[in-house]
Formats: sequence, C-alpha cells, structure tokens
Amino acid sequence: YILLWLSLILCFACSPGKKEKKYVIGVSQCSMTDIWRQSMIRDMEVEALNHPEIELVVMDAIQDNDTQISQIKGFIKKKVDLLIISSNETEPVTPVAVEAYRAGIPTIILDRKINSDEYTTYIGADNYEIGRSIGMYVSSLIKKETTILEIWGRRGSSSATERHQGFVDAMSIDPNVKIRELDGYWYRKNAYEEVLKLDSIEDVDIVFAHNDMMALGAREAIEERDSSLVGHVEFIGVDGLLGGGLGVEAVAQGKLDASFYYPTGGGVAIKVAWQILSGQAYTKKYALSTAMIDKTNAGTLYLQSDRLVEYQRQIEKQRANLSQLLSKYNFLYSSLIIILILALLLGASAIYTVYI
Ligand code: FRU
Repeated sequence: YILLWLSLILCFACSPGKKEKKYVIGVSQCSMTDIWRQSMIRDMEVEALNHPEIELVVMDAIQDNDTQISQIKGFIKKKVDLLIISSNETEPVTPVAVEAYRAGIPTIILDRKINSDEYTTYIGADNYEIGRSIGMYVSSLIKKETTILEIWGRRGSSSATERHQGFVDAMSIDPNVKIRELDGYWYRKNAYEEVLKLDSIEDVDIVFAHNDMMALGAREAIEERDSSLVGHVEFIGVDGLLGGGLGVEAVAQGKLDASFYYPTGGGVAIKVAWQILSGQAYTKKYALSTAMIDKTNAGTLYLQSDRLVEYQRQIEKQRANLSQLLSKYNFLYSSLIIILILALLLGASAIYTVYI
C-alpha cells in the first residue's frame, strides 16, 4: 500500500505540462475600470504565456493613492521577484516605489512616472511629445480667435501633467488662443458631468481631452446641451484604442476628429521583466512610439483593427482550447501511470497467489 501511494504521489508530481512557477511578478495597477488599462493587463497575460515560469499577481488600486501604497507594501512583504508599477499620482506613490527598489526588488515603472530615478527601468511613450503634437495639430486648425476646452486626466499623474505641458508649450506662441480647463479624472462620466455644469459652451471651438473616453463624454454633454453646436466643435483625444467604439473607431465614425495612439506597453513590460529575471541585458528606459490618428488614416486603421481584433479573439479561443487539451492530456497521462502501477501490482499478487 505504501508503495502504491508513493508511486501515485510521484506520478502526479511528475505529470508533464505542469511547469513550476518560478518567478512572481507583482503588478500594481492604478486603476482597472477603463479599457485601456484592461488591455494593458491582457497584453501582459498574452506575453506571459511565452514564459510558463512567470506568475502574474495584479492589484487594482481603484485610483486611490493609499490603496496603491498599501498594495505595494504588501508586494514588498511577500518579496515578489519583480514589481511593475503604474502610479496613480506621482508624488504620493514615489516613496513606496523607491522602498521596493531599495529592498532589492527589480522595479519597472510603466506608463506613469515616479519622482525619482531609483527604479530598474521605465517603459512608456513620450506624453510631453503627444501634448506638443496635438498642440501643433490644433494650431494648424486655428484661423481666428479660438477657445479650447482642455479636459484633464488626474492632475497628479505624470501622463496628464506632461500632456498638458506639451500642449500649452505648443499653443503659447498663438495669441488668438484661450484655454479653458476642467477636470475629468480620466473618466468619461466625470468629463460628461463637468461639461454639463459649465456656464457657457457656445464659445468652445476645440475640445482637447487627455484621453478618448473623456473626449467622447464631452461630446455627449455638448450634444445634449445644444445639438447644433456639436458639428462645429473639434474633438481630440488620446489613446487610439482599437475596437470597443473607442479611439480609432470613434475617429473613423467622425465622433472624434483626432486621437493619438498611446501604446499600453504591457507586452513590452513582461518581455523586459523576463530579460531582468533571466539575467539578460536591459536598458534604463524603453521609449514606445506613438502616432496621430485622424480622418486621413482612421478608415484604413479601422479596417485593419477589425481584423486584428478578430485575430486576437481567435488566439484567445485557441489558447483556451490548448489549455483544455493540456489538462485532458495530464489527466490521461496520470491515469495511464496509475493503471500501469495497478496492473503491475495485480500481476505481482497473481504470481504471489500462484506461489502460495
Ligand atoms: C487609463 C489612462 C489612459 C491614459 C493613461 C495615461 O487610466 O487614463 O486612458 O492614456 O491612463 O496614464
């Protein structure tokens, strides 16, 4: 009996396909409610499939600094092998990110910056450049006195401050421009409600929102207040997401006039994490490329994105099928071993019986 149990345990432990997770990567995500951040995590998961040794543990801080700080402290306590941080706000999250780095945990800062260079590597696109390019695009539209409504993401986050800085720097040379600002905190609902509350919207010529969701929220509110205005206002956002009625699709449908593709960097983060964990060379900064999406290229991008989304769907379906097949295989393999052991035992006891 002891022999039988030992062999069973051994056979389950050795069953193929069950590679042991060697590295735990903690992901401290400032928010998960929006599609951009959800697709960042999906990109990570897809890339992590190439490295079965990696286990991802994702924590959502729900746009709250204190929550994010205590989640990162938890990761430090657990001694994760690597930490990826996308900070809610720069200042409050910096000390705990530095604490993780000083505790010897390789730390990747993704998309949103911290206020220190005590981290392993930074991955993200240039938000200042995005703001400046949008400013230059807007300048090319301006013929007379113009009022721009700038809808901010969360003011303390680096992506919002840099987009704003780039934008005002590009606009500062134009004396005909007046910029009105309001806070959307990255949410469509907030932007929508804030625009509904404005005293006047008749003077607004251009809406520049720090992301597409807020640009669409502002459009919705202006349409609701005075549908005759919406056709005269230019709506510009950032993210250029594929599918889901956002970014590319919204520009192709004419709901937005322009957007700026802002890559999530999720896949790159896992690639770089693997390089760090497996002792390969890496650099301190990975700059991701961006691109303007407007009426001239949105149609083509939309068609291509449709196919891309379909490919992604197929890949995910195949991934699910594969893991189902793998678990069936594991089950059959274990069953076979058990049957073999039982057959052996039966044979042995038959011989023993004949012998007796
Ligand atoms: C999501 C998001 C994106 C934006 C990014 C910037 O939380 O607001 O829409 O581009 O964060 O950090």
